Amino acid sequence: MNIDFTKIKEIILQTDSIIFDPELLNQVTVKGPADYVTLVDKNVQTYLQTALSTLYPDIDFMGEEKDNTNIDFTGDVWIIDPIDGTTNLIQNCNFSAVSVGLWNGKKQKIELGIIYQPFTKEFFHAIDGQGAFLNGVPIRVSTKTELKNCIISAGSTPYHKEYADEVFKITKNMYLNCSDIRQTGSAALDIAYVACGRLDGYFEKILSPWDYAAGHLILKEAGGHMTDYYGKAPTGTHISSVCCSNSLVHEQMMDIIQNC
Ligand code: IPD
Ligand code: CA
Repeated sequence: MNIDFTKIKEIILQTDSIIFDPELLNQVTVKGPADYVTLVDKNVQTYLQTALSTLYPDIDFMGEEKDNTNIDFTGDVWIIDPIDGTTNLIQNCNFSAVSVGLWNGKKQKIELGIIYQPFTKEFFHAIDGQGAFLNGVPIRVSTKTELKNCIISAGSTPYHKEYADEVFKITKNMYLNCSDIRQTGSAALDIAYVACGRLDGYFEKILSPWDYAAGHLILKEAGGHMTDYYGKAPTGTHISSVCCSNSLVHEQMMDIIQNC
């Protein structure tokens, strides 16, 4: 697959003009309990789908704000969250991201991962086998070996409150065994933060592919590790629970997850 990274980066940076339009932000629709979508989400997705499909007409498009039932993963597919951290966006927290993964149908894996934080202008990216970068500078995961010294982000599975007992049992046990926990409201940025060593780990039950696909490659290329709650690699194309780490504390995190 021939990827023009510079062109793709340019397209993604142009989402600024939509994200910083206050008129769009005020138009909120409720998708489900605690689950919102704004015109920013919808317009960023439409813009990316149009721009990327013009550049690569043969690549299919999976996005959070559209129907994805007929995606064929034997071919190449963009896996995109136009805004990860929509609630943060609505709350003016300035902690949201555009997440873009490129699934290679032949190789059956993610080939390109991009997570763009428009409020800090931080651009995380990785191309398979070529390392992970933040604004063009190589990044690596942290070197901590003991969970008790680690800062771990705990995803709260906000759209599935039926799992609250399990989610908070794991969170409590993680908290008791690490240095402290965080809750950020953006899965994509959580994973990017583990990749660059700002966090040592992150876990969350039930993520959609657009939440973790781009991050998976960035984390892997930065020396980190992502598995589902059974210890297997998440597919990248389907819903999965995820445990992310600097690799060194992965087993310690999984012990807690699996023994709750
Ligand atoms: C959500 C955020 C949140 C995580 C949820 C995700 P969205 O994505 O990443 O941090 O806890 O599981 O669904 O809805 O803001 O795109
Ligand atoms: Ca989203």
